[in-house]
Amino acid sequence: MIKLEENEIKDLIASAIQVRANAYAPYSKFRVGAALLGTDGCIYTGCNIENASYPVGLCAERSAFASAISKGCRTFRAIAIVGGPEDSPLADCPPCGMCRQFMREFCDSTFPVIMATSATEYRILTIGELLPESFGPDTMTSEEN
Ligand code: THU
Repeated sequence: MIKLEENEIKDLIASAIQVRANAYAPYSKFRVGAALLGTDGCIYTGCNIENASYPVGLCAERSAFASAISKGCRTFRAIAIVGGPEDSPLADCPPCGMCRQFMREFCDSTFPVIMATSATEYRILTIGELLPESFGPDTMTSEEN
């Protein structure tokens, strides 16, 4: 797994909690924040953005990646995710399948996904654990295929 300092983890979780306040989730009332650490040292954040046409809504994780990539950062060290129903304590919020695949495009299997339930409580799984046997950019270019 990519080596992360404890203060980097805490900063990412704090950023995810902060950006979650901006979530636009009038339909599910489930608010999610994500904070993505670029190899440039910057933290890129995103929140979920729902839509009256439900499938059009965007998850926090993909929103964070879109923010980073549109600013020119394409390589990453970790992501922190926080989520839960409005006006309730944070719940354990693993990324949805679509977000796992989206992240896989830009991260190798060792990329750490921090799922936090408070500023100090979290668990970490790698994208390889969350999305085993995955299809990625390397699959497209592999000589064996
Ligand atoms: N959501 C995320 O933002 N990230 C996930 O990985 C799971 C789900 C959002 C989508 C929707 O706005 C709300 O949570 C309820 O599904």
